[in-house]
Amino acid sequence: MAIQASLEISIRLFTESDEDFKILCSLWGETFPKWTVDGDLLRNILHHPFLSPQGRHFIAFHPAPSDSDSDSTKAIGFILTYLGDEGKKGYISTLGVLPEYRGKGLGSLLLERGMAGLRVAAGEKTGGGKLEKIVIGSETPRFWPGLPVTFGEDVKTWWGRRGFKKSNGPIIKDLFKDIRTEVVPPDVKDKVERVVKEKGLRFSPWDERGYEKCMEKQGANFSWAKAYAVLAASNQYHEVMVAFDTETNEQLGWTLMCGPEAIVKDMFAFMPISGDVAFGSDGQVHGEGTGREERKIGLIAAVGVDKKARGRGVGLAMVVRAMENLKERGVEGVFIDSVAIRDFYEKLGFEMRWEYESWELVGGGEGKGV
Ligand SMILES: CC(C)(COP(=O)(O)OP(=O)(O)OC[C@H]1O[C@@H](n2cnc3c(N)ncnc32)[C@H](O)[C@@H]1OP(=O)(O)O)[C@@H](O)C(=O)NCCC(=O)NCCS
Repeated sequence: MAIQASLEISIRLFTESDEDFKILCSLWGETFPKWTVDGDLLRNILHHPFLSPQGRHFIAFHPAPSDSDSDSTKAIGFILTYLGDEGKKGYISTLGVLPEYRGKGLGSLLLERGMAGLRVAAGEKTGGGKLEKIVIGSETPRFWPGLPVTFGEDVKTWWGRRGFKKSNGPIIKDLFKDIRTEVVPPDVKDKVERVVKEKGLRFSPWDERGYEKCMEKQGANFSWAKAYAVLAASNQYHEVMVAFDTETNEQLGWTLMCGPEAIVKDMFAFMPISGDVAFGSDGQVHGEGTGREERKIGLIAAVGVDKKARGRGVGLAMVVRAMENLKERGVEGVFIDSVAIRDFYEKLGFEMRWEYESWELVGGGEGKGV
């Protein structure tokens, strides 16, 4: 689709300047009014020391910012992209165009620019290598882990026309549970206590002494060891629960149990609004007394049990202990994002908050976008 001749635009790299943050926050709010991200959080995500270098973002202006009368220049769209998988995979984390500028070819131009940026970044990272695929969504930082199902058919058709295809993988879900009254249903609690006794399990927040063993096993079993390393580097061991075999003292399982002060919470854009359905929303991020920052939302993530210890009740019991720990720390609701497995967290009373489809484009998007 060609850009309308009447729409004089320019697209440039996001610079991380204060001015660009302001522009991006305002664009975000106008483009995705139902997916509020507080300005400070957006800034933290985009500035995150571990994430920022992997990101390449662009802003579109109308007319071009070189126009002598800068007051007449308006930011009208943006694209956030990240590079992952050692430069083999590109993420289109967010693509947004202001409602009044839609249907004029701007989204296609932004996509083309974003994919070109990803190809350059991949080449730099791999010494000339190429992207194997580009996916919609992001892993770290987490905006949407895929294409939100509620975005509807029009949006899917738009991506389909640009070569993206829905993959066969399962629908990804974000889950939430209000723990103000009970952490888990009484029958689940009874079962967990039985298992803990019978299998000889012990649970304890992580500490420095357990660092080496934990990291060794994380590396051997899972892809998310970095989240644990980031917490340890910030001396936030208490944001992790570890399951042990009482007899041998061996570490059997690990989960993040992050309260609102955990450093990794700044990787999750929608964690603060995940409780809106449960707690009721006044729609105000800064509403006095009722604002979102008043609600204490915790995060369970990167849940894993050593392969040889799976299927013995360790995982479920560990998540329950982590939720109890969060509640003791004043947390009122627990968010679990990007879940592909079914009927595991649901056993504990977690409910679906948002759903996502996985969409991808094979290759680096050469010649695609417009
Ligand atoms: C998912 C995982 C943490 C579960 O730990 P576990 O100790 O093996 O699970 P448990 O023995 O506590 O299982 C308890 C219950 O959940 C069910 N369950 C276990 N693994 C499951 C899975 N992958 N999908 C769905 N249900 C599962 C069990 O069947 C059992 O059900 P029951 O109580 O009705 O008999 C573990 O299999 C694992 O580390 N998997 C790889 C990492 C992963 O996928 N993590 C989840 C990220 S969101």
